[in-house]
Amino acid sequence: MKRILVIGGGSIGERHLRCFLNTGRTEVALCDINENLRTDVARRYNVLQTYASLSDALEATFDAAVICTPAHLHIPMAIDIAGRNIAILIEKPLSVSLDRIDELKAEIESRRLPTSVAYVLRHHPALRALKQSVSSGAFGRPVQVVFTGGQHFPFYRPAYRQTYYTRHATGGGAIQDALTHVVNAAEWIVGPVTRLVADADHCVLDGVDVEDTVHLITRHGKVMGSFSLNQHQPPNETTLTVICERGTVRYEAHSASWLSCTEPNSAWKVEEQFHIERDDMFLNQANAFLEQLDGKADPACSLAEAKQTLRVNLAALKSVETRGWIEL
Ligand SMILES: NC(=O)c1ccc[n+]([C@@H]2O[C@H](COP(=O)([O-])OP(=O)(O)OC[C@H]3O[C@@H](n4cnc5c(N)ncnc54)[C@H](O)[C@@H]3O)[C@@H](O)[C@H]2O)c1
Repeated sequence: MKRILVIGGGSIGERHLRCFLNTGRTEVALCDINENLRTDVARRYNVLQTYASLSDALEATFDAAVICTPAHLHIPMAIDIAGRNIAILIEKPLSVSLDRIDELKAEIESRRLPTSVAYVLRHHPALRALKQSVSSGAFGRPVQVVFTGGQHFPFYRPAYRQTYYTRHATGGGAIQDALTHVVNAAEWIVGPVTRLVADADHCVLDGVDVEDTVHLITRHGKVMGSFSLNQHQPPNETTLTVICERGTVRYEAHSASWLSCTEPNSAWKVEEQFHIERDDMFLNQANAFLEQLDGKADPACSLAEAKQTLRVNLAALKSVETRGWIEL
């Protein structure tokens, strides 16, 4: 049994805690500054121990820590954890600035600590299958990537006004919170963003002034990209389409499937459809991280890949402000 410390037991921290327990391969402890939350989570799960601060928790021994606090805390916490020789899974986005990331990189490299960043779409079986088929070259060279998606954020996260979401400085707004998932997925499939221009605004969500609607145009070398996302539409739909030289493939989150179309004016062919619950991706992610701890797998999303996506987040925010293209 591996000993895992979950830091931050809020919305996503509780999910990680449950999914790591459900692997059947771990014991899990929880650290959160909120006493009511600690008590409530410990009452509902078989938790090893709870801690009110990271420094208290780091007095004990753990194989790995999962950082589930707001994004501005990720890097300083990861540096403290690495200093104790503990492997790390860090929630997305990696951070809200590039500060101290090279210090963390040096620390984990010198100690050879397994580290990964929790861009959970990489654990969706339909997206993984699509990525594999694009990488195999079956459809030819990728030419264009097109994302459209949205969901009614207040429906899924009624307390959004009381969370990190309200401010860019804590990882809030649609660019750092939601768009970053699909940008990271697109970079995984067609390569890193090399330049971009973005438009974004606060259009609908009550009680916040961060952007809830975004348009992003990207270049990934020769591949051209566009991303359109909002956090207020009623349908919960996510479609990521990769247009290749000899065919088009599409990932649909809402139908948990991937599709292809290779002949002009023909219907989509459903390549594979999955029946998955939201926890399943997190369970897959927990198992993948445990494989990495055992030396049997590479990180699902490396620190370098997450840093690249962070640079995209920061460039998109800057582009909205300056109304211009940014080279990465
Ligand atoms: N992968 C996903 O699908 C997904 C979904 C939601 C959030 N997230 C990410 O996870 C992170 C947390 O988001 P959330 O929605 O769970 O937020 P949340 O506000 O629900 O939970 C954060 C928790 O961290 C605790 N915390 C704050 N400072 C702390 C400290 N110094 N020490 C210990 N605990 C501390 C808070 O008390 C709170 O319980 C963010 O980076 C967010 O972007 C990822």
